[in-house]
Order: sequence, then C-alpha cells, then structure tokens
Amino acid sequence: MAAAVLRKGGVCLWRGVVGSRLSHAQAACRDILEGELEGIKAAGTWKTERVITSKQAVTIRVQGQHEGILNFCSNNYLGLSSHPEVVQAGKDALDKYGAGLSSVRFICGTQDIHTELEGKIAKFHNRDDAILYASCFDANAGLFEILLTPEDAVLSDELNHASIIDGIRLCKARKFRYQHKNVQDLEAKLLECQDARMKLIVTDGVFSMDGNVAPLPEICSLADKHNALVFVDECHATGFFGATGRGTEEHFGLGSTRVDIINSTLGKALGGAAGGYTTGPKQLIALLRQRARPYLFSNSVPPPVVACASKVFDLLLGSAGFAEKVQANTDRFRSQMTDAGFTVAGENHPICPVMLGDARLASTFADLMLEKGIFVIGFSFPVVPKGKARIRVQISASHSFEDIDRTVEAFKQVGKKLGVIS
Ligand SMILES: Cc1ncc(COP(=O)(O)O)c(C=O)c1O
Repeated sequence: MAAAVLRKGGVCLWRGVVGSRLSHAQAACRDILEGELEGIKAAGTWKTERVITSKQAVTIRVQGQHEGILNFCSNNYLGLSSHPEVVQAGKDALDKYGAGLSSVRFICGTQDIHTELEGKIAKFHNRDDAILYASCFDANAGLFEILLTPEDAVLSDELNHASIIDGIRLCKARKFRYQHKNVQDLEAKLLECQDARMKLIVTDGVFSMDGNVAPLPEICSLADKHNALVFVDECHATGFFGATGRGTEEHFGLGSTRVDIINSTLGKALGGAAGGYTTGPKQLIALLRQRARPYLFSNSVPPPVVACASKVFDLLLGSAGFAEKVQANTDRFRSQMTDAGFTVAGENHPICPVMLGDARLASTFADLMLEKGIFVIGFSFPVVPKGKARIRVQISASHSFEDIDRTVEAFKQVGKKLGVIS
C-alpha cells in the first residue's frame, strides 16, 4: 500500500511510506528491527522464501524458474497433498459445509465431519479418543499446561520441537531437560523427581532436523521402572513410519498402545493442509476439550481441511502399502549418496540431512541445485546449531526411482563443483 496511515492526531504510523513523519518510538523501533535484520544477513542465515506457483507435488513450478522443478524438500511424505480423491473430498466439503465455521468448537463450530475425523484418528492410532486443533503447534501448546501441575514433573529431550518447548514453558510442573536421546541422563533426571505425582517423559518420535529416532524402547522401559508416562510427537512419523505407518511405536515393534499420549499433525504426510491433534486416554481428551486454550479460544478447523484429512485416513485405514514405497525410495537415496561420498545424517528415515557444515555453503549448494531443476533448501542457524548447516532432503512415496537418481546425480555434480566431494 502506497499511502501512509494517519492516526487521529495526524501522526503517521511507522509503516507509513514516503514523506510520513515517525514518532520517536516508531523510529527507534524501526532502527532496532533494521539492526536485527542486518545481523541475520551478516551471519549468512537469512531465509529467502521461494515462491511456488503450482500445487505441492513431486514436480512443481517455482517463480522465475523453468518448468518442472523436482521437489525434494516438502513433508508430503506420502504424496497425498494433491491426491485426486483428497482434493475432491475438500471440494465436496466446501460445497456442503461452507468455507468455515466462524466459531470455536464449543460455541457453534462442531460439525459431524469434525467428530468423524476425531473418530478416525483415534481408530488409526488405536486410542480411546482424539481432539482436533488448528495445528500441532496448538496441540503442543495446549496439552502440558492442562495435564501437569506443580506437583508433577516433565522430562523433555533437549532437541524437542519448538512447539513442545513453548508448550512446556506454559505449564507449572517441575521441568527437566535431558540430553538428546540420552537414556542415562533421562534416568538420572527421573531419579531427581521420584516424589512427583505424575512424571511425563516427552520426546519427538522422529527429530525433524536430524532425521533420527527417539530410543522409544529404552524410554518406555524407564517409564515402567520409574512409574512415568510417555508422550510422543509423531509429526514426522504418522502415516508413513513403521510397517503400516502407525509411527515410532510400530517402527520399534512396541505394539500400538504403549505410548500414553500422541500428538501429530495433519499438515505433513496426512494430506498436508493443516491441523493437529492429541490422541490418548478418554479422560485426557475430555479434559482438553474443557480447558485447552488453543482449542477453546481459536476457530474450528475449516470443513475442506477436515474433509481432506478424513479422506487421507480412509486411504490409510484401507491400505497398508503407502509406507513401503517411501522406505524403498529412502534406502535408494541414502545408499547412493553415501556411496558418492556425502555424509547423510539420521537413521534410515525419509528425512535425509546432507551435512555441509557452513551456512553459506549450504545456501549456495541449494541455489545450484535449483539451477539443475531440484528444489532443496539449506538449513542453518538458528534452525540447526552453528557449524552444522545442511541440506535437508525429504523423500516422498510419490518420487520415482528416476527422480531419486536424477537428484543424486545433481548432488554429485554440485558437490564436486563446490569441493564437498572429490
Ligand atoms: C515435530 C513437530 N512438532 C510439531 C510441529 C508443528 O506442526 P504444525 O505445522 O501442525 O503446527 C512440527 C512442524 O514443523 C514438527 O515438525
């Protein structure tokens, strides 16, 4: 907008443009923010958003690039974001149920499709019940504050997702942060809070930056030994990890009910639109419906989004084949990249971090990959630790072997050019 916005007294807001006068506070604020922005640029960690002008899919259109860019950095692990049945379900729901509810769930924002989807989620995870949120960030923000009191203790992996960290900040339980995946440290912390009324161990099932997996069998054994509960965030596991996509529990052969509480997202493998949920004991879900703040004070999930996710669960409940393809693709990518001399971190998960170290190198590498028609992104501080910049490749069931081979070839060419491999 080109016009300055005027306040009643005639003083321009600091976002106002050409010729506008700024108050001292407005000018000072702008200076502070400019300083921050310059600092990010100077550190080489500025994130530029590339603009996609097509659906999310294996082949995408990227603004300013030639046609047919291969996409290797989305969380569309099952390729369902633009699956025709999923898209059709969203269109039908738009016609039947409208664009949105203009309401939170407990006022007049609950439709039959919301409760149906919650039923399917609980069935998929073999749990009592489930509660929907607008995002998994909200599910993580809502849970801990309601479940835990000052009489309780929460023990959280130091590399858990930001939304878990924020959610735990909101609760009044005693807080313990254990070293990443370190079960000895976890046990030491459990011993420090033996007297707590409830002890909750909190971990990502799969850690999104490193593609590595929580040591769930050991965590569950410690939970048994020390009378603790286990919470797992399954955003990077639900739908595709484990033989039938039931997630980290299934990956480790722990059955489908060992973990006490699961939070996950509808915004990645499960259609990729938006939404999150908690699934677990019915008393917990009932209490969250009464008290969880992101549920009580935020709008109902829009009907087309609900219908898309619901169709995804129909597909997953009706077939077990989805997880196999993504695993075969992952094996192919990881082995070829390792043979070529790259260091690929993680544990045989579709998140394949190609480790480069330097932030600028990662960003240049990604730019050169785009010139070769492959969309990948460099990750650097503060998203990952300083000196551990990487390109996080994500494999999808919808990639073909030819797509994988073409991408490995591009990595080899760019890697040689930039001196990463010989
Ligand atoms: C481990 C983990 N938890 C939670 C979230 C938040 O999910 P949503 O996008 O549904 O808010 C993410 C998304 O990046 C995630 O990776």
